[in-house]
Amino acid sequence: MVGIVILTGAGVSAESGLGTFRDKGGLWTKYDLSEVATPEGFARNPQLVHAFYNARRANALDAAPNAAHSALARLTAENDDVLLVTQNIDDLHERAGSNGVVHMHGEITRALCAVCEYRWDAPRVMDPVDTCPDCGTKATRPDIVWFGEMPYHMDRIIAAIEAADLFVAIGTSGEVYPAAGFVDIASTAGAETLEINLEPTPVPGRFDRVITGPATETVPAWVETLF
Ligand code: OAD
Repeated sequence: MVGIVILTGAGVSAESGLGTFRDKGGLWTKYDLSEVATPEGFARNPQLVHAFYNARRANALDAAPNAAHSALARLTAENDDVLLVTQNIDDLHERAGSNGVVHMHGEITRALCAVCEYRWDAPRVMDPVDTCPDCGTKATRPDIVWFGEMPYHMDRIIAAIEAADLFVAIGTSGEVYPAAGFVDIASTAGAETLEINLEPTPVPGRFDRVITGPATETVPAWVETLF
C-alpha cells in the first residue's frame, strides 16, 4: 500500500452528534469565535472560554465513534505508512482504535498551563481558579490551539505530506490555514489528492478526485478499496 496522509475535520465527527463549525447551525454561527477561541478572548473572560470548552468536552465525552472513525482505525492498524492528522479536538479517532493520531489543533481531554506549559489530563469541568499541578499558578486553559496561535506538529505533518503518495482530506471545509494549504503542498510534491466530503468544497479542481456523501458511508467504502 502507498504512503498516505489523511487530514480529518469536523465532518468526520458530525454523525457522532458533534457540531461542525461553518455549516448551517454550526458552532461559529452561534458563538463569536473572537470571544471563545482566541488568546485575547481568554484574557478578557476566562470563565466564558472555560464554559464554552467544558460544553465541548461534555459533548465529546458523551459521543461515540462512528463508522468513519472505525474504518480509519482499521486502515491505520493495517498499514504502518498512514499518518492520521486531525483538526478535531475530540478523541473519537482514539476511541475507535487509532494510535498515534496527530492533533494539530490540540485535544479537549488535555489541560495546559499558560505559564509553565505543563500538560495533563483535563478534568471534565475546568475552571479559571484551577491551579497547575506543576507550578501552582492559576493559569490553566484547555490544550486547544486558538486563532492566532501556531498549530502543533507542523514540521512533522509537512514532512509526511511531502513524502506521501496520497493526501486525503475528509470532512473539512478547507477554510482554516495552515491545514487548508496541505492539499497544495501535496500537489506540489507530486502526491495524488482526494477530497471526501458531504459536498465538494467551493474551489473546483483543487483535488485530483472528489468523493461526496456522508462520512459514515463514503469513508468505509473508500477504505475497502485500499485492501
Ligand atoms: P467546518 O465546520 O469548517 O467544515 C466541516 C466540513 O464537514 C464541511 O465541509 C461540511 O460539508 C462537512 N461535513 C458535514 N457533515 C458531514 C458528514 N456527515 N460527512 C462528511 N462531511 C461532512 O470544520 P473544519 O473544516 O474541521 O479550529 O474546521 C476547521 C477548524 O475551524 C476547526 O479545527 C476549528 C475551526 O475553527 C479551531 O478551533 C482552531
